Amino acid sequence: IGENAPLAMNDFDKPWVKQMARPRRNRKSEGIRAMVRETSLTAANLLQPLFIHEDDHVTEIESMPGCVRHSLASMVEEVRSSLALGVKSFVLFPKIADDLKSNFGQEAHNEHGLVPRAVKLLKKECPEAVVVTDIALDPYSNMGHDGVVVEGEILNDVTVQQLIMQAVCHARAGADVVAPSDMMDGRIGAIRKALDALGFTHVSILSYSAKYASAFYGPFRDALDSHPGFGDKKTYQMDPANGREALIEASLDAAEGADMLMVKPGLPYLDIVYRIRHAVDLPMAVYHVSGEYAMLKAAAQKGWIDEKAVVLETLLSFRRAGADVILTYYAKTAAQWLRDAEASSS
Ligand code: PBG
Repeated sequence: IGENAPLAMNDFDKPWVKQMARPRRNRKSEGIRAMVRETSLTAANLLQPLFIHEDDHVTEIESMPGCVRHSLASMVEEVRSSLALGVKSFVLFPKIADDLKSNFGQEAHNEHGLVPRAVKLLKKECPEAVVVTDIALDPYSNMGHDGVVVEGEILNDVTVQQLIMQAVCHARAGADVVAPSDMMDGRIGAIRKALDALGFTHVSILSYSAKYASAFYGPFRDALDSHPGFGDKKTYQMDPANGREALIEASLDAAEGADMLMVKPGLPYLDIVYRIRHAVDLPMAVYHVSGEYAMLKAAAQKGWIDEKAVVLETLLSFRRAGADVILTYYAKTAAQWLRDAEASSS
């Protein structure tokens, strides 16, 4: 093919692409790859959600294989074993008995309620654990919503008043971080002011800033029996079609005193993680939610994906997009996998 040959020949008569920049040089060995790796994933980046209930047995959650509703005793055991693997933080989600549910969700600020007791026990048994509580009325609402309902409407400011009481109640019990997941307007500033006025200036707020009205929460609602009692959550959770709006939510929460911001769900919203990362300098979390977990589990159980490889790749993608913290039901398992990898490479 002479003159028009796509490749030249070098002096040793071997084909030669006259290419000086060769990115593959930085991939040629595990040593080089490790040296230039841009992101890392460690157990300390993971925040483990824990479902708890009043019963003293452990109940499997059918749509979330491998996840259970813990008794308080098994919650402590679970936290101990995760701490031993390097997971340092935990967020509690209670399943509340139907007869304790009400429209105002008063049980949410009962100082003898399940969550305050769980927080106290955890801080006593495992003082080094970072304990995060979810602030929202849905587990306590007989309407199955995150706020107080009047004539089919989810009231904003009346709900914020309830959330303040819930946050203060959790702070009194010893929570390190409160995490409002309700998406009411103005709740971060209101909760911050209430905590500060009562001397809880040290309690942090992790705001679910961009929480979407997503179909990926189904298995979580099975776990807590918290499916909306009527309608959907579209008047408070965000429209999945919107990206810029997430930046508005994030900057409001930052201005109102949030210490960390969260995007939820995870994988379908990586663009939102990336955009907020570049707009706000606060630490960021992402929630790898129940539906995402269920999809991975189902495919893994079918033998259609390599669970460990796909999960670790997914978690790394959150870090690459800009998340510091990842809430995931895989926290403990991933920590074990990371530890195994460490052991086999040294
Ligand atoms: C509710 C809340 C939800 C989740 C965390 N907090 C569900 C909802 O908004 O209905 C979902 C988490 C998951 O799906 O893993 N305040």
